[in-house]
Amino acid sequence: MALFLDSADPDEIRSGMDLGIYAGVTTNPVLLSNLRPEDRLERFAEIAKICPKSIYLQVSWKTVSEMENQALTYVEVAPGRTIIKVPMAAEGLKVCSLLKTRTVPTCITAVFTPTQAYAAACAGAHAVAIYVGRISKSGADGVAVIRQVADMFAAAELSTSILAASIPDIDTLIQILSVPRVDATIPFRLQESLLHSKGTDEAIEEFTAAARGSTNQPAGLQS
Ligand code: G3P
Repeated sequence: MALFLDSADPDEIRSGMDLGIYAGVTTNPVLLSNLRPEDRLERFAEIAKICPKSIYLQVSWKTVSEMENQALTYVEVAPGRTIIKVPMAAEGLKVCSLLKTRTVPTCITAVFTPTQAYAAACAGAHAVAIYVGRISKSGADGVAVIRQVADMFAAAELSTSILAASIPDIDTLIQILSVPRVDATIPFRLQESLLHSKGTDEAIEEFTAAARGSTNQPAGLQS
């Protein structure tokens, strides 16, 4: 039930890591699209410095050997804690199998169906990133896919991690986190709503007023 931050922005990652709630950071090429390809390795190194935990770095869509070589470069960014994301496709599965022989962990990403997740697990993926929000947008039920994959992996005793990605809102996150053995990666914009509640803000206001010995306590504290 680990929580990851889906971001490639150093300021967002710093803000997230300071909270101590994340098991690591996940990135993808879209999150890095404001950078020139030749500057992305430098950004990965910066992310690895800010986040001392797991980092998920995605290879660009190229040939199998190009993706493999790119992965071998990326894994050096943070040895022992870099997971290489590879898009779900025949080529991606080949890269996953090749990297497994080199003990490089992979995450097959952009997974939409239980059978894709199963194939990824059989190819030896460390994790599968299931695109919950996009599945639901396509008319299917993203959370149901998460449940099916969790049941399937449990029945088949597959140790591949399930990473729920493309999470649109907090309600969806709550539904996902109640499925056993599922991790989630959230965009930075959800971090605020993860932490805040109007009731908590009011309680803190009361505590602060009481600690000051203020007689002007908010209504909730007056007897
Ligand atoms: O990590 C995958 C995720 O970033 C995709 O999210 O919101 O673009 O569907 P979204």
